[in-house]
Amino acid sequence: MSVTVLGIESSCDETSAAVMRDGALLSNIISSQLVHTQYGGVVPELASRAHQTMIVPVVNEALSAAGVTKETLSAVAVSRGPGLMGALLVGVNFAKSYAYGLGVPVIGVNHMEGHIYSNFIDDPSPAFPFLNLTVSGGHTQLVLVRDEFDYEIVGETMDDAAGEAFDKVGKMLGLEYPAGPLIDRWAKKGDPHAVRFPRPAADGGNRFSFSGIKTSMLYHLRDRGLRGTVIPEPVLADLCASFQSTVVGVLVERTLDAARRAGVKDIAIAGGVAANSELRRRMTEGAAEAGFRLFIPALPYCTDNAAMVAEVGRRKFVRGLFDTLQMTATANLEL
Ligand code: KG4
Ligand code: ZN
Repeated sequence: MSVTVLGIESSCDETSAAVMRDGALLSNIISSQLVHTQYGGVVPELASRAHQTMIVPVVNEALSAAGVTKETLSAVAVSRGPGLMGALLVGVNFAKSYAYGLGVPVIGVNHMEGHIYSNFIDDPSPAFPFLNLTVSGGHTQLVLVRDEFDYEIVGETMDDAAGEAFDKVGKMLGLEYPAGPLIDRWAKKGDPHAVRFPRPAADGGNRFSFSGIKTSMLYHLRDRGLRGTVIPEPVLADLCASFQSTVVGVLVERTLDAARRAGVKDIAIAGGVAANSELRRRMTEGAAEAGFRLFIPALPYCTDNAAMVAEVGRRKFVRGLFDTLQMTATANLEL
């Protein structure tokens, strides 16, 4: 019997729906909310409203792009946390109502679990046990994935998430939200050795800290009279290159160390910051040098998407791990 799962993602500022039949992704529609750009960050209430506007058209588009009718769905899977409460509620309530109407099970998915399984959408995929680095706007986590649905968080950030650091530093530099992709682009034109930033989390171990580098960028700009000004392009490029290189260096080093300690052969990275070109390149080089197999999702599966939710949903369906219609959204859901 084939299993067709509709995945829904609405935890932050992407409204997304995807259809997966058995192991094959049939569609993955992502509507990114542009309304937040002018505010320099996600405004929760505006996110909820935009999800409400977009959820039905996005789901309909996912079904039609997949060439399936809703009557053929086996289950509806949805991100139920962590994320913005009002944003999550839109997806969770829609998923429950849709599943109820169709008479199929609803499956709640942990958004962070979704990011990890973004490495299983395309072949080849990592073999258990493997070490996963999830780097997104809300999280920076090193997770030992012992087996399917068996996780141990072996490292986390003590303050800001890596993506948050990209976005906040970008804001200081006068870049629009989300600044990660823009810093990535500017960094290509700059010198990574132009400015020496302190290495985040010099305490060793698996812990990260990104608030220090943010503060030193602030002091750097203030001391040179660059705060609140339009920064000349060559200076901007050097600042982006130096900042990015420092953050990426720590992410690569800590991940390789943690993988050695865990005794795994495979490493995976996931989350929005996994779209970063320098992280992809340096993690590929580092893993090859150290003898690990490395897995990085294709770009559309790094930032928030419903394909990863459908992938987890499909796996849970096969195991009979369903939720009831009493399922709730949980803003701080743990892995
Ligand atoms: O996974 P994601 O879409 O949402 C969360 O679950 O948080 O990650 C979004 C984050 C943002 O902070 C964004 O700036 C960052 O990923 N990001 C990047 C790049 N593309 C997205 N950061 C660095 N380089 C990129 N190319
Ligand atoms: Zn995410």
